[in-house]
Amino acid sequence: MQAKIAVVTGANRGLGLASCRALSDAGYHVILCARDSEPGVQAVETLQQEKRSVELRVVDVNRAEQVKDLGRYIRENYGRVDVLINNAGINIESRQAGGERSANPLIVSPMTVMETLNTNTLGALRMIQALALMMPEGGRIVNVSSGMGQLSEMDGGWLGYRLSKTALNSLTRVFAKELEERSILVNSVCPGWVRTDLGGEQASRSIEEGIDTIIWLATDPEVTESGAFWRDRAKIDW
Ligand SMILES: NC(=O)c1ccc[n+]([C@@H]2O[C@H](COP(=O)([O-])OP(=O)(O)OC[C@H]3O[C@@H](n4cnc5c(N)ncnc54)[C@H](OP(=O)(O)O)[C@@H]3O)[C@@H](O)[C@H]2O)c1
Repeated sequence: MQAKIAVVTGANRGLGLASCRALSDAGYHVILCARDSEPGVQAVETLQQEKRSVELRVVDVNRAEQVKDLGRYIRENYGRVDVLINNAGINIESRQAGGERSANPLIVSPMTVMETLNTNTLGALRMIQALALMMPEGGRIVNVSSGMGQLSEMDGGWLGYRLSKTALNSLTRVFAKELEERSILVNSVCPGWVRTDLGGEQASRSIEEGIDTIIWLATDPEVTESGAFWRDRAKIDW
């Protein structure tokens, strides 16, 4: 029997790479997507040395033609996608006051906000549009969001990042509804504050802790809900 197929974006490092490892442990054939070839090859070689079933596709989620190529490749070679983890993300608003990429919403450049929305929100949209029609009943889409996008706990700073994750959560709700008839589950997850390049060294969680709920939502038969926002395997407010 052909293994189930899982696709992970932004998977050459951090939460994405660890998700690939965990999905392969769960028996999936993993399509590891990286925006640059070199770090992608390195990541895949590491996993293949560990005897994992994984392959590389170069996909910058901002580049519509690369996302479409991925869709074509998967349709021709596998004909299905069981799990999609929209993990690729950026937080380019610097902590320093001033400067074009400031985390201060009073001076942040709208271009910086647009760039962040393009990757964190529209990147996920491009992936869903390219792959969702190939998902069988029971397919799962996991959007890696952030508590920084929670309206119920909205705070100052990091306008672009916050907007992008609030909008990603809206995407989760819309596609949960659109794909309900086909029994495809679409959920958002906050991994917590995790020690990755994006989270920084001071973050409170390990990468393994960070991916726990992501993998649970992607693979566990006990998950039957769709259109919710999760952290630590429990629902949280939008
Ligand atoms: N770490 C945290 O504390 C935390 C908290 C809440 C949410 N998150 C979310 O978790 C996700 C993963 O973050 P992480 O912590 O693992 O960060 P990370 O180590 O910085 O990894 C981010 C990944 O996204 C990729 N990426 C960025 N732009 C891309 C694009 N246009 N196309 C394809 N890939 C792209 C990066 O590729 P390159 O190597 O080429 O740059 C990298 O592989 C993000 O969505 C982030 O917002 C993280």
